[in-house]
Amino acid sequence: MRAPVPEVQAEPRVRVPTRWRKEVERILITDGQIARRIRGMSRDIVRDFAGRETVVVSLLNGTVMFLADLIRNLSLPLRLDFIGVSSYGAGTESGDLVFTKELRLDVRGRDVLLVDDILDTGKTLYRVLGKLRALKPRRIKTCVLLNKAARRVEAVEADYVGFEIPDLFVVGYGLDFAERYRNLPFVGVLHPHVYKKACQQAIPARPRKAGRRRGG
Ligand code: PRP
Repeated sequence: MRAPVPEVQAEPRVRVPTRWRKEVERILITDGQIARRIRGMSRDIVRDFAGRETVVVSLLNGTVMFLADLIRNLSLPLRLDFIGVSSYGAGTESGDLVFTKELRLDVRGRDVLLVDDILDTGKTLYRVLGKLRALKPRRIKTCVLLNKAARRVEAVEADYVGFEIPDLFVVGYGLDFAERYRNLPFVGVLHPHVYKKACQQAIPARPRKAGRRRGG
């Protein structure tokens, strides 16, 4: 059974840095909270993967910060590979999934830790798990920083979850809107005026990425 996952505890005294205040409504999870939680998750992962040939498979691009912080806490012999997968579609709703990079390492018979930044509708993890299972690893465990259970469409859950979050449009710490905000060191809630404005402007001539479908 999965270990209890903390609900996000707002820290109201932590203010959004001035540079971001017009676009980010509030900080949902601070960098300190993230760092502490990652240390806790890493302990669980190390305990479960000890003594195994582990391949960490990370999904591009949103995992960039989470992955970097996670694996430096994993005192395990591991190999690292990436799958590029992206949702395309206008606005904040789900579009089709497009694979932009395939796995290179052989995972047959290996223990795989699949890492993603957010589990939202579950469409991404569901598709990727299907692909990975066909490669016959010994087992696959999934690890996500954020779980937004309220929006689940596919029956998929993660084995390791950083935080349960409500149905809010979150950005930062790798998560984007229209490829922006990935560099914020915290997870913040996007001001609705930012994505509403973008949706109104989005009259795409061809499918293009218009930001994640985390819209609340
Ligand atoms: C985001 C996120 C997850 C996925 C989760 O990726 O990184 O991979 O969506 O959503 P789901 O559970 O509804 O499928 P996105 O396609 O936006 O690409 P990115 O990682 O490059 O931001």
